[in-house]
Amino acid sequence: MPSKTFIVTGPTSGIGRATALALAKHGTVILVGRDPNKLAEIRRIIESSGQRAESVICDLSDMASVRAAAKQIIGLKLPIAALINNAGIMQMRPKKNAAGCDMSFATNHLGPFVLTEALAPHLPDGADVLFVVSAVEDPERKPAVAAGFRGGRFISAQASARGEWKPGGAKRVGFDAYATSKQASLATAMAFAREMPRLRFSAVEPGLNPTTNLGNVNPVLRLLVLVLVPLFRPFIKIMSTPERAARVITDIVTNDSGKTGVYYDERGRPMQGSVQIRDPQFQDRVVAETRAFLAN
Ligand SMILES: NC(=O)c1ccc[n+]([C@@H]2O[C@H](COP(=O)([O-])OP(=O)(O)OC[C@H]3O[C@@H](n4cnc5c(N)ncnc54)[C@H](OP(=O)(O)O)[C@@H]3O)[C@@H](O)[C@H]2O)c1
Repeated sequence: MPSKTFIVTGPTSGIGRATALALAKHGTVILVGRDPNKLAEIRRIIESSGQRAESVICDLSDMASVRAAAKQIIGLKLPIAALINNAGIMQMRPKKNAAGCDMSFATNHLGPFVLTEALAPHLPDGADVLFVVSAVEDPERKPAVAAGFRGGRFISAQASARGEWKPGGAKRVGFDAYATSKQASLATAMAFAREMPRLRFSAVEPGLNPTTNLGNVNPVLRLLVLVLVPLFRPFIKIMSTPERAARVITDIVTNDSGKTGVYYDERGRPMQGSVQIRDPQFQDRVVAETRAFLAN
């Protein structure tokens, strides 16, 4: 019986699903998701291959649900080797959660933040905490700019929660919310690496994965993408697949390098974030403001 346990958020689709299936070969997987039927399906697939999985219901946009999920995970008393904060959304029509907070900021940043802080004291020394982020946070990232992104537009945690971003952002609705929430998440990974040296924090830019459900693309367009993507993949360096992203994530959380505070690209090579993200003061400000916001 494998002794390691891996927590994967968002295991019901795309990169998270491929990661859960890959990690099941290395130990028990705790599947953390919002849809019980989809969780049951992925759990059945893992268990039918003779591997072990547990499922925990969690809506990452709802902090009470996240805290309850953390409690349930701790109660399982499994030897946690890694937490993979993968779940995320990109909304073309920004919504608010029940508490009136911007849905992207809540799901992509606040939820993983609360989950990580609740679990961290219960993780053994050397455990991995990995955040799946996005290079669209960098306003100088050429493919992201070409797609219409203008980088993270962080004003403050309070402003992000209200759905307000630095002026001069993207024309496409939802892009600033997504880029800013992923920037906040990346800043958190880097700040936590300095704050909690007994754990290993990392962040991964998983590459462009157009075949996942991110962005709720309309079904006809998705079909077109599924047909065209294989033709272009060899020519576009940043293009990836959920399986490849899963391999990169699995390598990071199963190696013994002991490295912390590293941001990896779609091939698992260290990369640099935006100028802002490289500034430890910015990283610490995001964490401090997020804590203050959550305390209220
Ligand atoms: N695809 C890309 O090109 C790309 C590029 C850069 C970064 N990323 C990042 O990669 C990660 C995975 O994205 P993906 O492309 O695999 O997208 P996906 O196929 O849409 O998967 C997203 C996962 O997150 C879960 N999720 C969404 N909202 C949630 C909530 N409120 N509570 C709990 N779970 C929730 C979804 O659950 P349901 O199945 O219930 O909807 C699903 O399992 C995200 O963090 C994304 O930002 C993706």
